[in-house]
Amino acid sequence: MMEPIKLAIAKGRLAKQSIVLMEKAGVDCSVLKENNRKLIFSMPEENLEIILLKAMDVPTYVEHGAVDMGIVGKDILMEQKKQLYEVLDLGIGKCRFAIAGKPDAMNDRKHLRVSTKFTNVAKKYFATRGQSVEIIKQEGSVELAPLMGLSHVILDIVETGNTLRDNGLVVFEEVADISARLVVNRVSFKTKKKQIYEIIDLFSSVI
Ligand code: PRP
Repeated sequence: MMEPIKLAIAKGRLAKQSIVLMEKAGVDCSVLKENNRKLIFSMPEENLEIILLKAMDVPTYVEHGAVDMGIVGKDILMEQKKQLYEVLDLGIGKCRFAIAGKPDAMNDRKHLRVSTKFTNVAKKYFATRGQSVEIIKQEGSVELAPLMGLSHVILDIVETGNTLRDNGLVVFEEVADISARLVVNRVSFKTKKKQIYEIIDLFSSVI
């Protein structure tokens, strides 16, 4: 019996959409839908082990080879720049990075303060434009920052736009399109090539 392929999936919305994809491909995902607090799920039929992680931790597990593969948003891959192979755009978790703020935020602003969870993405974006900014790292509810006067603008993920709209914020610039990617550990890709390709083919067949 071959060792199962370990696949890390970002918890939450992305995990739900990943399950939909796998089910479309004929994989029995019932163990993943049990309502409990387990983090590791064995799927012996597929010779697969699913590990549920915080999105920000998925690339770390894949880079170190603690798992063979991962499903994670391009937002996090852009922020972290890990050593891994990005093999497939899964077409789920679609959203975008945008710069947003109160409607008057960009009026005569020489030195912008920018709130974001994605400080590396923000640094790179404003550096490319030759714009000097102060970046303020946040952990969540980034939309609050301009409302409370902590910063002038935010760089954040926009999906439906509801959060911005409900808080009176507008998009100034689109930074990048985001979607979930299938990623592979560099050693696993060589040593478990056949099994890895089976998983890639499985996802390819339904996207
Ligand atoms: C994300 C993002 C926005 C929101 C955008 O937050 O940071 O706040 O979703 O979605 P929308 O355009 O559909 O409203 P998330 O729910 O991941 O929580 P967070 O506040 O902890 O970042």
